[in-house]
Amino acid sequence: MTTPELGLPMTVPAEGLPSRVRIHEVGARDGLQNEKATVPTEVKAEFVRRLAEAGLGTIEATSFVHPKWVPQLADAEQLFPLVRDLGDLSGTALPVLVPNERGLDRALALGATRIAVFASATESFARANLNRTVDEAFAMFEPVVARARAERAHVRGYLSMCFGDPWEGPVPVPQVVRACRALLDMGCDELSLGDTIGVATPGHVRRLLAELAGQGVPTDVVGVHFHDTYGQALANTLAALEQGVTTVDASAGGLGGCPYAKSATGNLATEDLVWMLTGLGIDTGVDLDRLIATSVWMAEQLGRPSPSRTVRALSHKE
Ligand code: HMG
Ligand code: MG
Repeated sequence: MTTPELGLPMTVPAEGLPSRVRIHEVGARDGLQNEKATVPTEVKAEFVRRLAEAGLGTIEATSFVHPKWVPQLADAEQLFPLVRDLGDLSGTALPVLVPNERGLDRALALGATRIAVFASATESFARANLNRTVDEAFAMFEPVVARARAERAHVRGYLSMCFGDPWEGPVPVPQVVRACRALLDMGCDELSLGDTIGVATPGHVRRLLAELAGQGVPTDVVGVHFHDTYGQALANTLAALEQGVTTVDASAGGLGGCPYAKSATGNLATEDLVWMLTGLGIDTGVDLDRLIATSVWMAEQLGRPSPSRTVRALSHKE
């Protein structure tokens, strides 16, 4: 047990948890893709830089998707060169989303070395998000993953709707496991299990992770991506850590949602995650004060307060 500094929780480690967690920061992509207002490119670049200065080592920068589908990120070509040097300066990993070969061409042309494809466990969301069936989407990703690997790029495979789907309801665990297998067999280096609409609860998380492990999916390639719609994101994260997961997606200030799943509200806020992990004695490398200052600044740019509880609590202290 260690005494807290001002603005940090008391550290009381719990048994059976990892000593370090890698936070995959998605605020600049998952967060900003869902804002009504389009944030100016220079502001996005400063956001990414400030996140890196706060100690986040993996920052998803943008998406090379069709600009009509996500106009908020239509400036990917302008943004990426403004932040690319962070890789050399501080070793920051800057993954970008690509849905197809056109997106891959755009990303590779700018020197991206980490990409993410994004599949769906359900037919309804595959249609809404990618204009494809589940199988057609996998067929679209296959050459993307093969080429990215040939170019020595690291490939993340997102899987959305792993727990529930707004059109189809609860999603059967075997359906999710099959899709995870397909992404790994295709050559993805890691997975991110998306609770896109935030309906998961801890027992469901444990069940899915146990089933994946039972089917031979190594837990160290599995990340979790929770949305906080029903206030379950931290509880679900703790359940995942107890199952051995060490990669957790989060969004600075709790920015985000998903433009093609109306009921998806904000992502798990990075500050709330860092507060919990710090209290558990788990290292993240993140400077919470600097991160909060960044989210307060970003909230000012967006003209509304951050939904993160931790940002609210600590930005009002005297
Ligand atoms: P489509 O309309 O079927 O595209 O969209 P297409 O393949 O028929 O091509 C139509 C035109 O688009 C062509 O141009 C292509 O060149 C062009 P034309 O020949 O007609 O002039 N095009 C592109 N242009 C630029 N960049 C590209 C690109 N691709 C095609 N990459 C498509 C299919 C996949 C492109 C579209 O559905 C799309 O862009 N979807 C992206 C949706 C998206 O970004 N959603 C949010 C991210 S997922 C998410 O947030 C969930 C996650 O956070 C996890 C979770 O919470 O669950 C990851
Ligand atoms: Mg998301």
